[in-house]
Amino acid sequence: MCGIIGITGQAAAVDGVVSGLRRLEYRGYDSAGVVTTDPKGLRLVKRAGKLDNLTAALEGQPLSASTALGHTRWATHGEPNDRNAHPHLDPSGRVAIVHNGIIENYQTLKAELGDVRFASETDSEVVAHLIAEELAAPAPATAPATATAAERAMSTAEAGTPDLLAAVRAVVARLEGAYALCVVAADDPETLVVAKHEAPLILAQADGVGYCASDVAALIEHTNEVAALLDGQLARITPDGVEVVDVDGAPATPHAYTVDWDLAAAEKQGYDHFMLKEIHEQPQAVADTLLDRLNAPAPGLPPRLQLDELRIDEGEFSRIDKVFILACGTSLHAGMVGKLAIEHWAGIPVDVEVASEFRYRDPIVDPHTLVIAISQSGETIDTIAGAAHARDQRAPVIALTNVVGSTLARDADGVLYTHAGPEVAVASTKAFTTQIVGCLLLGLYLGQARGRVYSSEVADILERFDRVPDALREVLALDGQLRELAQRYHDVDSTMFIGRHAGLPIAMEGALKLKEISYLHAEAFPAGEMKHGPIALIEPGSLVVALAPAGHVFGKMVSNIQEVRARGASVLAIGTAGSTAALVEHADDVLTLPEPPHELAGPVLSVVPLQLFSYHVATLRGEDVDQPRNLAKTVTVE
Ligand code: AGP
Repeated sequence: MCGIIGITGQAAAVDGVVSGLRRLEYRGYDSAGVVTTDPKGLRLVKRAGKLDNLTAALEGQPLSASTALGHTRWATHGEPNDRNAHPHLDPSGRVAIVHNGIIENYQTLKAELGDVRFASETDSEVVAHLIAEELAAPAPATAPATATAAERAMSTAEAGTPDLLAAVRAVVARLEGAYALCVVAADDPETLVVAKHEAPLILAQADGVGYCASDVAALIEHTNEVAALLDGQLARITPDGVEVVDVDGAPATPHAYTVDWDLAAAEKQGYDHFMLKEIHEQPQAVADTLLDRLNAPAPGLPPRLQLDELRIDEGEFSRIDKVFILACGTSLHAGMVGKLAIEHWAGIPVDVEVASEFRYRDPIVDPHTLVIAISQSGETIDTIAGAAHARDQRAPVIALTNVVGSTLARDADGVLYTHAGPEVAVASTKAFTTQIVGCLLLGLYLGQARGRVYSSEVADILERFDRVPDALREVLALDGQLRELAQRYHDVDSTMFIGRHAGLPIAMEGALKLKEISYLHAEAFPAGEMKHGPIALIEPGSLVVALAPAGHVFGKMVSNIQEVRARGASVLAIGTAGSTAALVEHADDVLTLPEPPHELAGPVLSVVPLQLFSYHVATLRGEDVDQPRNLAKTVTVE
């Protein structure tokens, strides 16, 4: 949450910062601001609301500088207004900071500053005050062996010379909580100083320009060679280079990597919204997740499913006796399909857990427990912390993520990338379908590693998976029908999604999609649970969306559909070629999907009409599809 971009050494740096903020706006969009440096002082413009409010303000008071720092905010402390927007200044206006994260001890730190006036209600502003205080303090010429971290930090500066990096080091030693910080000072106008703890921060240097940003999306127009700052690291970025140090001031090495997508992938490419574009990218995204997974280990040997990125020897999996899948939101729903796949092919019991709950209880985890942490962004703090909790108990962790070099990927013992390309819309679509495919691959791989699935079966199942992209194209061709259905139902008060087996995670995902972008009330239930309570909510006018593909639970779904229809609900049934003839007499509307090439691949297809339905409902209701209210794409605070 919150997007940061800093640029130094570029003519018209503010234009670059605004362009970067445009690509980071999905991280938070309740206010935005920019500050430029100049030996004469800092110049600051910030506005509540979307980035367009800031750009309008900048037209009225253009800022020209070669160093600029910008921020787009998702509010945690203090309402989203001009005052609480970042950047924040110290009282003298000589230091400015932007922050992503939460400073948990901000009240204590404010109290330590004494009788000082704060301009905002944020937890972040205090950091600017503290840095200014450090810069104003006389620095010791040398630090004694018994020096505190703060004193040692100051010792790297020449005696009497304020050093921004040293001052920031001294201050971060006092911070509790999570932060990605970027700091500028009027007295050091060509320098950006950054610090990171439990919130992402990326550095880059290209053609005499230094950059920092929360996400590579903001930098990809300049370079695809980047480095992720690691926890506890700080950096000084100038047009001449980047110096990275640890909290003690010793040289440190960030995680350097090459981004494998380009600017075009992060553009709308003619679609009205990123969400619609990303829905339509799913056939290619799924094909990319599946690419090159089946290979003969040696000439003459039968081909095996190979997940080279995992970095964990296949033999290791024979010792696993339990799996935890940790994730949040949409990724959690993909994990629910993962449970079905792993239990089916590998025969290992699987618990799927909301990551924010897992980390605060005492789960039974040991070195024989495999933890699969699923996160599109790889930066969701709850999932990262949940995985760390498991690693502390020596459980191997596999990250299933879309973002190469993300924190989750770096921290894990093994990683499986979904290769979906950048997902910009807050509502996740192609990341979800590729996560499901990733889960299916992991389930099959564990089954293969444990000798429960023969090579010939693996090859047959993968050949079936390879037909999923074409089946997805057939589903996308139903868009016209879904627009009509959205037209009919976009004003309903309440929608329930029901499903069984592989239909249940999709019912849950369908309800999440509808509520997050259309703000309609939507809930999901296992179809069999309806009569244990939720059916009391059904009344004439309620809409029930039922996932009813052909398969072993189809008969039960038909019974559950009849039960809600008998109580006045309108039923929209999502069936497959083999089930819709039987559904027609029980549902008001029936959508026919192609039969999936494998039952466990069914969710990849059946979620797509629910994505399109939600999209059309939201646009008909005039909502901002790509940036729904109160949400942010990357949730880096608890
Ligand atoms: C999806 O539409 C949501 N915006 C949200 O539930 C998301 O899936 C969740 O925050 C987890 O994000 P992650 O996959 O990046 O960890």
